[in-house]
Amino acid sequence: MNNQDKIKQLINLRNEAKLGGGEKRIEAQHGKGKFTARERIDMLLDEGSFEEFDMFVTHRCTNFGLEKSKFLGDGVVTGQGTIDGRLVYVFSQDFTVFGGSLSETFAQKICKVMDMALKMGAPLVGINDSGGARIQEGVTALAGYTEIFQRNIMASGVIPQISAIFGPCAGGAVYSPALTDFILMSKDTSYMFVTGPKVVKTVTGEVVTDAQLGGASVHGSKSGVTHFIAEDEQEGIALIRKLLSYLPQNNLEDTPLAVCDDPIDRLDDSLNEVIPDNPNKPYDVKDVIHTIVDYGEFLEVHRNYAQNIVVGFARFNGISVGIVANQPNYLAGVLDINASRKAARFVRFCDAFNIPLVTLVDVPGFLPGTAQEYGGIITHGAKLLFAYGEATVPKVTVILRKSYGGAYCVMSSKHLRGDINYSWPTGEIAVMGPKGAIEVLQSKKIREIEDPQERAQFIADSEQEYKDQFANPYNAAKYGYIDDVIEPRNTRFRIIRALQSLATKKDVMPPKKHTNIPL
Ligand code: HXC
Repeated sequence: MNNQDKIKQLINLRNEAKLGGGEKRIEAQHGKGKFTARERIDMLLDEGSFEEFDMFVTHRCTNFGLEKSKFLGDGVVTGQGTIDGRLVYVFSQDFTVFGGSLSETFAQKICKVMDMALKMGAPLVGINDSGGARIQEGVTALAGYTEIFQRNIMASGVIPQISAIFGPCAGGAVYSPALTDFILMSKDTSYMFVTGPKVVKTVTGEVVTDAQLGGASVHGSKSGVTHFIAEDEQEGIALIRKLLSYLPQNNLEDTPLAVCDDPIDRLDDSLNEVIPDNPNKPYDVKDVIHTIVDYGEFLEVHRNYAQNIVVGFARFNGISVGIVANQPNYLAGVLDINASRKAARFVRFCDAFNIPLVTLVDVPGFLPGTAQEYGGIITHGAKLLFAYGEATVPKVTVILRKSYGGAYCVMSSKHLRGDINYSWPTGEIAVMGPKGAIEVLQSKKIREIEDPQERAQFIADSEQEYKDQFANPYNAAKYGYIDDVIEPRNTRFRIIRALQSLATKKDVMPPKKHTNIPL
């Protein structure tokens, strides 16, 4: 071979690798409404920025005649590129090669980009579309998965890790995405489960489809496994790019600062009217969020899961923040098991990556009942308490209306190292709501009054007396637990000024191996 032949050989090999499992399987992939591994990478990264690694890797397995069946790249495309000019590492499983199943060498390719992402301090995006462990390989495939899991764990809290699920993700394979920070599933073309419908039927007799067992809708609303659901892959990839725009490259970087023309002192009179006069009437806290953040843009995480609490990313004068807000529009914004878990995980993510927390409070308390107690609301509620208490990022809190009982303590209160705690004049801070309080405090007297009208009047008067005492923020402000009572229409400005003043905040945890958050 002369040098020209060698160059031709390289080009031919590259073209062969780019075809993955071949034209027919690519067609089949398209036929299912799915993109190929490479098309997905092209959509994800800035144009022309992709540098591929390990294109010429093939598997080493000789079981079941596999030595005769080899594909360049071995079923996963890996490398680096940029998103909005910022370095990211990526792997994209290629379903056209052995159904994207994971072999020893496939895992080694992924581990290489994971190691590089950690060394360079750049985010890792994994695109999953795989039949799981390559069955012919046996233990080397299992070992490969576990090497990936270990790296997911080492990278946790150091670099952002994002998993897209654009096809099957079954068996132990689900645990790599589960160890990452965010999971995104495409609506109709992805599913995740530890054991598939066939095994479910054999073991439990239950008959379910892939979608019923582990489709995007199930994991987006019932299990909370996925943080985002995308209508299709294109929307999913755009979402990943957007999500990364809010995040620093690693835990040592500050959050990215975006250019912002939205005036910081923009007043919004609608906020003065958002809280209904009747305290039992709901409103949508997302209206408040959209009104106060830059350009009204809010990237909601876990939109359909535990909707009684809202979490997501936004910006204030270009500063990325994590927002946590009770949602009066859903279960009156009560804290339950799922809401506590959802918010705790989000708070810990933000804290790990230096993203300030803005908390909007309107919470009647923790949800009572046997279902919650048997489900461990004590342990799960403690997660949120713990997460806020250990967070050292800037914490700005605004009480919009109710802040009752344990939920007052939990929701980024002053006592959990809250930095700046405001309340609207509509704030109500008390051990419990007026109705419950009077039932406890005056139960004997209420029983003693025989005349129903007189009894009702006594209850109403007692509740009014309680409200006069507690249904305001000034009692808490007297103790300095609320730094200021602010006019609702001025909320954006006050939050921005608080965040600006907290930019140099330094706070630490005492030295320890790690915390023991109640899991
Ligand atoms: C080897 C596999 C494979 C696998 C699929 N293929 N899964 N090869 N190992 N795990 C191959 C098929 O033989 C086929 O090869 C090609 O990929 C496409 O598969 P099809 O079945 O034709 O595709 P489809 O009908 O779309 O079904 C996709 C599928 C199904 C639902 C994923 O292939 C399937 O059920 N695969 C097995 C899933 C599984 O049980 N995996 C193990 C999970 S346990 P050809 O040559 O015909 O194109 C696990 C343990 C991990 O992963 C533990 C980690 C700790």
